[in-house]
Parts: sequence; structure tokens; C-alpha cells
Amino acid sequence: MEKKILVTRLYPRAGIRLLEKENFHLTLWKNERPMTSMELIESAIQHHALLCTLTDRIDQHFLTQCRHLEIISQFAVGYDNIDVAAATSLGIPVGFTPDAMSEATADIAFGLMIAVARKMFFLHKTIINGQWGHFKPTGNLGCELKNKTLGIFGLGRIGVKMALRCKHAYDMNIIYHNRNRNRAAEKLLDAVHVDYEDLLAQSDVLSVHCALTAETRERFNRSAFKRMKPSAIFINTARGPVHHEKDLTLAIQTGDIWGAGLDVTNPEPMQPDNPLLFMENVCVLPHVGSGTKEARDQMSVMAAMNIIEFYRNGRVPHMVNPEVLKS
Ligand code: GLV
Repeated sequence: MEKKILVTRLYPRAGIRLLEKENFHLTLWKNERPMTSMELIESAIQHHALLCTLTDRIDQHFLTQCRHLEIISQFAVGYDNIDVAAATSLGIPVGFTPDAMSEATADIAFGLMIAVARKMFFLHKTIINGQWGHFKPTGNLGCELKNKTLGIFGLGRIGVKMALRCKHAYDMNIIYHNRNRNRAAEKLLDAVHVDYEDLLAQSDVLSVHCALTAETRERFNRSAFKRMKPSAIFINTARGPVHHEKDLTLAIQTGDIWGAGLDVTNPEPMQPDNPLLFMENVCVLPHVGSGTKEARDQMSVMAAMNIIEFYRNGRVPHMVNPEVLKS
């Protein structure tokens, strides 16, 4: 096929191979760093389609310059880097890769929860710093998770996998807060839908699994942390801007909550002198939720198939704005 596709990062070969087989003309950005907004526009102008990811800013300015694009295929489940309303009004279909990384991301949320409960990252650092010292009968104490209450903010595909892990491993009670109730998950998990206030007040572990939207941006701020239990663990593996980072830092320093596990930070990347990195009850990872070979391969295949199916049959199997193809 004559179509020219701009591939903005080094995505796994599994998906790229599929695109090559279709004889698309691919331009691969081979640098480690993402393209700047200017580089992205200058290159996208010369292509029919875009295979991009969360480090690419597909905003109103980009879309105005690149309104000719026939499809945008995002290698990620989240798409807050894309102005979907603008793409929709220009009639550009936007694909994404839901569920490919649900197991991988739930593993990171679950792992961070345990790591925070037992101060694992901090204790690892004490050994590196030569501070193992002696066995301390009352030192380095963490907390147990058995029968505790897990609160999920955004019980969707990934939230359900996290809740299943917590239920099976620790028999945790599951509560959640969503705009719309997830009745299938309620049945599967004995989960109880609660309002936001109750989610804050009752959760021993509060794990965020929502999309970043105007409604969820900095939803976890000083006032929210103040309404949580002083023993609570806050986990965010969704998007950093869902929490207010300075407020989170203060909440832990002042004992409003006990600790936090973050795979996403606000902003990203987190600077190496960020005080959160030095706290006993905090574990931070550099946005690696989907970082397994299995998940990334599947994401690349889904992102490629969204483009391939669009050019073969006029449909995008996993689409953010299906209304574009209906009209
Ligand atoms: C990763 O953050 C994703 O949205 O897939």
C-alpha cells in the first residue's frame, strides 16, 4: 500500500512487522528521546497516518497543522496526550490499545502496595548506604494487608485485576467509586460502590485506576488526603496529574496518610531530588505499568492492527472516537 506512516518511537517489532507486511511506507523515529512538537508536526505533515504514544503531544495546534491525517493510532490505553475532541471534529479516527496491559499494570499496583506496606524500597537503600546495623525488634515495622479495605478509584479493566489480586491474596474488602456502576465487577468481587467521601474515609489502601480528565485532574489533593485514614496507603499507577504531588508530599510528612506507591508522577519524569524519593513509606517507579514483553508486544500488534484494518476494511477495532466512522 502506498500509504506513508510516521512511527514516533521504537515500538516492539511484533507490530512493526505487521505494518511492513502490508507494504506501508514507514518512517521510523529511531532516537531514544521523543520528537519535539515541532519535529512531530514537520514529519507528520508528510504522512497519511501516525503511530504515536503518550509522549507525543497531539494537541489542537498539531491537529490544525496535520488535519490531513487519515488515522492516529495510539500505543497506550490512556490517550490524554491527544485532543480527542479536536480529532473528532476533524473526522480523524483515533485508535488505542485497551486491556493489553491490564495484567502488567495490576502487577505493578499490587507490587507497590506490598512494597509500601513493608517499606521495601527504603530498606533496600539503607543496605546500599551501609546502614543494615542490627536486627531491631521494634524497628522497620510495616503493616499487614490481610482483611483490609481496598478502595478503587476507577474500577475498569485494570482496577478489576488489582482488586482480584487483593481479594485472592489478602481477602481484602473491595469498595470503589466510579461515575457509572460496574455491576459485573460488583458480582465478581463482592465490590461495593460508595461515594467519593466514603472511598476516602474507608480505604486502607486507595488505588487509582481512572483516566486523566478535567474531572479527575488533581482530584487527590490536600483536602482529599486530609479526609483519608492516617494509616492509608495511596497507590497511583494511572496518571500522575490525578494527584497533586506537593499535597501528597505534605500529607505523608504531616501524617494525614501513611504512605504512597507511585508508578506515575506529577510531573514526569520525577526529579532525583524529589523529597518523596527519600521517604520511608514511599515507593516510586518510572511509569513502567505496561512494561512487560507480553504487554508491549500485544500493544504494538493492536496499534498496528488498528491501522491495517482501517485501510483494509474502513474499521478500527479499538477506537476512542467511534462516532467518526459512523458518520
Ligand atoms: C500507559 O500509561 C498507557 O496508557 O498505556
